[in-house]
Amino acid sequence: MQLIVRHTVLTAFFIAAAALSIPAQAQTGGEFKPQVGQAGKDVIWVPTPKSLVEKMLKMVDVKPTDVVYDLGSGDGITVITAAKQFGVRATGIEYNPDMVELSKRNAEREGVADKTRFIRGDIFATDFSDATVLTMYLLPYLNLKLRPTILNMKPGTRVVSHAFTMDDWAPDQTDSTEGRTAYMWIVPAKVEGNWKMDKGTMELKQKFQDFEGVFRNGDGMSWRVTATNLRGDQISFSIGGASYTGRVSGSTMKGTMRARADAPATPWSATLVR
Ligand SMILES: C[S@@+](CC[C@H](N)C(=O)[O-])C[C@H]1O[C@@H](n2cnc3c(N)ncnc32)[C@H](O)[C@@H]1O
Repeated sequence: MQLIVRHTVLTAFFIAAAALSIPAQAQTGGEFKPQVGQAGKDVIWVPTPKSLVEKMLKMVDVKPTDVVYDLGSGDGITVITAAKQFGVRATGIEYNPDMVELSKRNAEREGVADKTRFIRGDIFATDFSDATVLTMYLLPYLNLKLRPTILNMKPGTRVVSHAFTMDDWAPDQTDSTEGRTAYMWIVPAKVEGNWKMDKGTMELKQKFQDFEGVFRNGDGMSWRVTATNLRGDQISFSIGGASYTGRVSGSTMKGTMRARADAPATPWSATLVR
């Protein structure tokens, strides 16, 4: 309840601040100096504190092999921290050209110009489909607008958002620091449908990372699919006491199963039939 109230207050703050926002071109002469609350295309600029940036990058477990994008990258703090502290290549997409140039200068000063890239563009018109990690600090309705694109990204892509959720797509992890909250999601593989297996068909219904279903053999018998878990492309479930773990890859799943806890692991596979 407390969280909902704080969330609502924060959203109201952003909307009010956007209405009163400082025009981005308000300054004259000298080097561009950003101002907290300055206008942005869809949302004002408010930076994420360094401590939360670090927490967010830890939540998504950034590795040097990842490809990180910050959507609406502001002064580049997340992109620069990812490159400098996590050794990863990172890209910021930012609509305000002055913020893009500022980010480039900041990256240069921090010695990570070669690992960072700043694109002047609209997050809704720029391709970030090669990302394995997305970070953002936007608004609830913007997260929701991005959601279909995110859900179509490669299963296992991690997404972390400062302050704002994805409506009924529950986060896989939530964490806070200094009174601020971050939410993390892992893009789930698509498993809804009928999966043909060795001895029958598994019919699955899916809502984001949750799924449920029933297994039917050819003799009119059925079992509920229980103990379901889906994390990116990693899947596990039980059918009638047998436990299955495996990996989803498009229209196939494969892995190992144990008929009982003390039974040897044997291979299994399933193919999506519709
Ligand atoms: C709340 S700030 C967050 C900045 C940074 N990600 C951080 O966490 O410190 C949002 C940023 O998104 C930018 N922005 C707003 N609408 C945008 C859009 N459609 N495309 C790209 N950037 C946008 C704003 O200019 C602003 O810098």
